[in-house]
Amino acid sequence: MKIEEVKSSSKTQRISAHTHIKGLGLDDSGFAIQFAAGLVGQDSAREAAGIVVDLVKSKKMAGRAVLMAGPPGTGKTAIALAIAQELGNKVPFCPMVGSEVYSSEIKKTEVLMENFRRAIGLRIKETKEVYEGEVTELTPVETENPMGGYGKTVSQVIVGLKTAKGTKQLKLDPSIYQSLQKEKVETGDVIYIEANSGAVKRQGRSDNYATEFDLEAEEYVPLPKGEVHKKKEVVQDVTLHDLDVANAKPQGGQDIMSMMGQLMKPKKTEITDKLRKEVNKIVNQYIDQGIAELVPGVLFIDEVHMLDIETFTYLHRSLESAIAPIVIFATNRGRCVIRGTDVVAPHGIPLDLLDRLLIIRTLPYSTSEIEQIVKLRAVTEGLQVEDDALSYLSELGTRTTLRYVIQLLTPASLTAKIDGRTTIKKEDVEEIASLFIDAKSSAKILTQNKDKFMM
Ligand SMILES: Nc1ncnc2c1ncn2[C@@H]1O[C@H](COP(=O)(O)OP(=O)(O)OP(=O)(O)O)[C@@H](O)[C@H]1O
Ligand SMILES: [Mg+2]
Repeated sequence: MKIEEVKSSSKTQRISAHTHIKGLGLDDSGFAIQFAAGLVGQDSAREAAGIVVDLVKSKKMAGRAVLMAGPPGTGKTAIALAIAQELGNKVPFCPMVGSEVYSSEIKKTEVLMENFRRAIGLRIKETKEVYEGEVTELTPVETENPMGGYGKTVSQVIVGLKTAKGTKQLKLDPSIYQSLQKEKVETGDVIYIEANSGAVKRQGRSDNYATEFDLEAEEYVPLPKGEVHKKKEVVQDVTLHDLDVANAKPQGGQDIMSMMGQLMKPKKTEITDKLRKEVNKIVNQYIDQGIAELVPGVLFIDEVHMLDIETFTYLHRSLESAIAPIVIFATNRGRCVIRGTDVVAPHGIPLDLLDRLLIIRTLPYSTSEIEQIVKLRAVTEGLQVEDDALSYLSELGTRTTLRYVIQLLTPASLTAKIDGRTTIKKEDVEEIASLFIDAKSSAKILTQNKDKFMM
């Protein structure tokens, strides 16, 4: 069972609509600041979310579930992403949309289980023998290819490492040269190389080079203290899903038929329930030995009304298991049919599951709040909007939805550009609003002109 050298595989998020959100914007006592960290208003929901964050951090909430309910465009997804920001990158946060479970290739419950395990972290602390320091030299030694042919091969790599206490020159195996390249190590970086496995970890750029370029993306670290060769406590954060993947074997055997099978099927390793149980067993051993610590994170299921009765049942059962994350649901539905049944239930969620949820409510925004949010989005997208265009947008947003007016911004900037302007005027917004209608108006047109549409 491999537990080291596991690469973390966090899901990439598409949050372009929410890039302005940097956190929940609460003060020290947990009260919402009217406009902070990119969030405006919606005080109670933000304060409730703050309590959820505290509970997650103090590990008091594993296996519980929260539902965010409110009309469209009232910031449910935005607040969930703010929760992710508050948790930081050490606590796993796995976002998914209800409809993700419907795929022709993978079972619904399988998709759910995978995301479930992406939301549970494991922090592994190990004392390892390492070589650590600032890279002073990085020279590959090349020799003629012994197999003949063209080109040269790297036979050795010479790495100089410096700490506050001394320097050391290491002659390393060419395989380590590859990991050095993979981590994009250059002279001036602080790295450590694990003595046993040869794994290379780049920790950042050395402080000594801090003034050289002012790259924001760069993390500067101080010159390591102590000797180059030493014992070091290495902390690794992985999720249970990472461990599942690392231990999954490719399906099928070596005979012709299963080889063919592998060619036909998309390349996907199989993670079975048996494997998960096995991983759990090892994880529990590590925990008992004090090497590892469980970090239950958050599984966020947006548009939860898209789940059907089968997935709800499975989810309910998984929440009861010993290793479970906090689950946050969001929905904009009122009473609707639970998918896969003909039962009508609040939010389309089965009553027994609903009964264990804590519910956070989001409320529609006032005109001035909408104005603040639209202004914020304009700044984020680098657009200038005239004041009367802004008040027109916010008034329009009160009648339609916040999301609709936010979406008008970019096209309105295009009409402004065609007119040779850089600022958006009221007339641009009016023109765009007449070209693109909102959902409510569209629904109204449908009911009024029923006979003209295909049914
Ligand atoms: N309080 C807020 N402060 C700043 N921006 C907000 C706030 N609420 C919503 N937004 C922004 O408004 C847009 C719509 O909000 P969001 O997508 O969170 O709504 P939602 O409640 O998830 O709606 P739906 O039910 O349709 O999914 C997003 O771009 C979001 O970032
Ligand atoms: Mg949403």
